[in-house]
Amino acid sequence: MEEHLVINGGRRLEGTVTVKGAKNAALPVMAATLLAAGECTLRRVPDLQDVAVMTDVIRSLGIKVERSNSTLHVCPGAATSPEVPAVLMRQLRASNLVMGPLLGRYHYFRVPYPGGCAIGSRPMDLHLKGFRALGAEITESQGYIEARTTGLQGTSIYLDFPSVGATENLIMAAVMAEGVTILHNTAREPEIVDLQNFLNGMGARIEGAGQDTIRIEGVRELKGTDYEIIPDRIEAGTFLAAAAGTGGDVFVKDCRAEHILAVLAKLTEMGARVIIKRDGVRLQGPARLKAVDCKTLPYPGFPTDMQPQLMALMTVADGTSVLVESIFENRFKHAAELRRLGADIKIEGRVAVINGVPRLSGGPVEASDLRAGAALVIAGLMASGQTRVEGIAHLDRGYEQLEVRLSSLGADIRRLKAGER
Ligand code: UD1
Repeated sequence: MEEHLVINGGRRLEGTVTVKGAKNAALPVMAATLLAAGECTLRRVPDLQDVAVMTDVIRSLGIKVERSNSTLHVCPGAATSPEVPAVLMRQLRASNLVMGPLLGRYHYFRVPYPGGCAIGSRPMDLHLKGFRALGAEITESQGYIEARTTGLQGTSIYLDFPSVGATENLIMAAVMAEGVTILHNTAREPEIVDLQNFLNGMGARIEGAGQDTIRIEGVRELKGTDYEIIPDRIEAGTFLAAAAGTGGDVFVKDCRAEHILAVLAKLTEMGARVIIKRDGVRLQGPARLKAVDCKTLPYPGFPTDMQPQLMALMTVADGTSVLVESIFENRFKHAAELRRLGADIKIEGRVAVINGVPRLSGGPVEASDLRAGAALVIAGLMASGQTRVEGIAHLDRGYEQLEVRLSSLGADIRRLKAGER
């Protein structure tokens, strides 16, 4: 039954919350276990719907995966089926990350085309161009992508855009290729560094992740390993934004400040006090936020996955904010919902102009995607009166027990089933 969140806004958030493992690091690392000849143990794996779907994807390929608390064991053994069922692919776009490892180790895959999604068309051209350059023959027909090779050959590949997924897929394909592959204009996200560290722990020879050029020397075999996933920088940023918006005082434990410098800079510019500690980040929100301008960019720029949460803050900031979304072409769906709560937002293409109002007022809203959901929760925490957030299945894809953890910081937020009041 469809659930929703009910938030009575206006409470300051106070206390400590601990960040879980990064969803966007766990997903590629899980895909990379397909390359291992031995058992892999992954620690600090968040308990999320997206991770559950990726687990099913790996199982569908014939590999045994067991979970106990935040640890995943992926058992050794060859994949028995290099095909991902369409029903799983539709649920999780990131399941396309099995393409690289399947091609690299098994020289074949057949997966359904992931298609569009709520935030834009999200094509796969950069992934496929890279696979072709490595020597794969690719056919696209009847909604499926099929790739085969007699053996991948290291080469030099320039990415037209620093795509996160394409960078990860090409690293995973090249890691068992013959010779050296150099990837140029790669994405520099911390999750890519995490993937490199994991693969090197398995015996791969990769260097340069975190920079715009990555060098991969192919190896014949990769062994199993034991690895801890990095903390989730977007989850951390979401808690910090919620603290900033409620004039709160929150310590986000295990938040790695160096992974979210762009977010911390914006929150500081908006008037929050950010205190970086050895084991996390403390944020004290101001009585009223100040308007700022911001543009999303590939890392280390301001992350598109924090854009909706930032927009929520801008709705009540003093002055006019201009927010530009340069990564996805259709990622302002939350604006219409924020308007229902009294926000003054004008959208023109990829630009949003937000005139801050003194206060939002609670009402019914619906999340169209994961981070839009986070933005609406923050809006509800800041608003006067009651906000009801529908569509929270999106939130469960990327936040573990969000309402429980916000409650522990003093928020008045509950999860209810349809019909419950
Ligand atoms: C990853 C993140 C997602 C985040 C995004 C951008 C994961 C599991 N997901 O998604 O949360 O919002 O990075 O930071 O890590 N593009 C192409 N052709 C391609 C591939 C991408 O044109 O072949 C375009 C996309 O349409 C989009 C842009 O590149 O406009 C960024 O996409 P990309 O970096 O690939 O994002 P994902 O890896 O899908």
